[in-house]
Amino acid sequence: MLKPIGEGNSRLARSDWLGGRKKPPLLRTRELGYGVLERLGFGNRAPEATGLPGAMLSEVLLVSAPGKVILHGEHAVVHGKVALAVALNLRTFLRLQPHSNGRVGLNLPNIGVRRAWDVASLQLLDTSFLGHGDSAALTAKHVEKLKEVVGFPKDCVDPEHLAVLAFLYLYLSICQSQRWTEENLELINKWAFQGERVIHGNPSGVDNAVSTWGGALRYQQGKISSLKRPPVLKILLINTKVPRSTKVLVANVRSRLLKFPEIVAPLLTSIDAISLECERVLGEMAAAPTPEHYLTLEELIDMNQHHLNALGVGHASLDQLCQVTTAHGLHSKLTGAGGGGCGITLLRPDVERPEVEATKRALSGYGFDCWETSVGAPGVSVHTAASLDASVQQGLDSL
Ligand code: PMV
Repeated sequence: MLKPIGEGNSRLARSDWLGGRKKPPLLRTRELGYGVLERLGFGNRAPEATGLPGAMLSEVLLVSAPGKVILHGEHAVVHGKVALAVALNLRTFLRLQPHSNGRVGLNLPNIGVRRAWDVASLQLLDTSFLGHGDSAALTAKHVEKLKEVVGFPKDCVDPEHLAVLAFLYLYLSICQSQRWTEENLELINKWAFQGERVIHGNPSGVDNAVSTWGGALRYQQGKISSLKRPPVLKILLINTKVPRSTKVLVANVRSRLLKFPEIVAPLLTSIDAISLECERVLGEMAAAPTPEHYLTLEELIDMNQHHLNALGVGHASLDQLCQVTTAHGLHSKLTGAGGGGCGITLLRPDVERPEVEATKRALSGYGFDCWETSVGAPGVSVHTAASLDASVQQGLDSL
């Protein structure tokens, strides 16, 4: 099991969060608050000029958390099976900046959200229904009530509204939480889980866990363990740009399981076995990776992709993605909920650079977005402005 903060395995020391202060910056005063969230790329290499007024730097909190993919076990994990999830070297950066203008703003450039509220008006909202920092208590009713209180349409399900709702839920709840001084990775993970619940309804918890702790995790029914020394795997992360609802896809798998228990339960058991076999192979690879290991990983990818299709979470765009990469001798599967969304392609070390570039071009030719990245990145992290990668800094400055 992962140890809680302060017990030696955390990259995010409590003192980093607190910065010598009694409370974290977000909560230092009810008047402040300015969240800027942007997926800006990855890395935090060369110190660069920040472009921010020096006097403000001590007031700005820069944090990042990795994107993630599920290697194996999506959907099965919702039914108590094992999932293997890995953090990516593609990070989402968050800049929290105190303001004294009495407004709290949220800027999510990637999904075109830019909103601001008067803190005073937020304080007037009756949020007593949110409870007092019990981050396990969110229900669908809370979300409905929150929509009503903040004036959103009852039936809004688009990602922009849901992202704003998740932010407001966390902002309002954390601000009234009496237990914030106990914050640590466990708490970050719990709050992230609540954000997931606002958006997905009934998530397994694997996504928030891997983005909190990073690395490579085995997750089953809330029990998390880190894979020791997972090998560096290069992958392509491909976004088909086909929108889908995780909530709906998870519900569809549940219906199929209820309709055809004799057929679907063995599929879930088989996916569980694929996750366990992948974990075993990754363990062996830590010592000495061989070409055979990569071939086994590819076979597991293919089998799981077929199972996921049988569960009904495939999509024509994902078939296309698999065909394109097969034509280049590479193996792919959907990752996450399916029904569109993203896929991953394993890049064996023996694949030559021109082949990788040709695959990426072919995928782009079908209108897919494609990132070349590696798995096993650090979890949620705090940064100083000077340590940020130039592209991240430029992105933040251009907001
Ligand atoms: O679509 P994503 O990336 O949020 O992943 C969903 C993964 C599922 O297993 C389908 C659902 C879950 O909560 O684990």
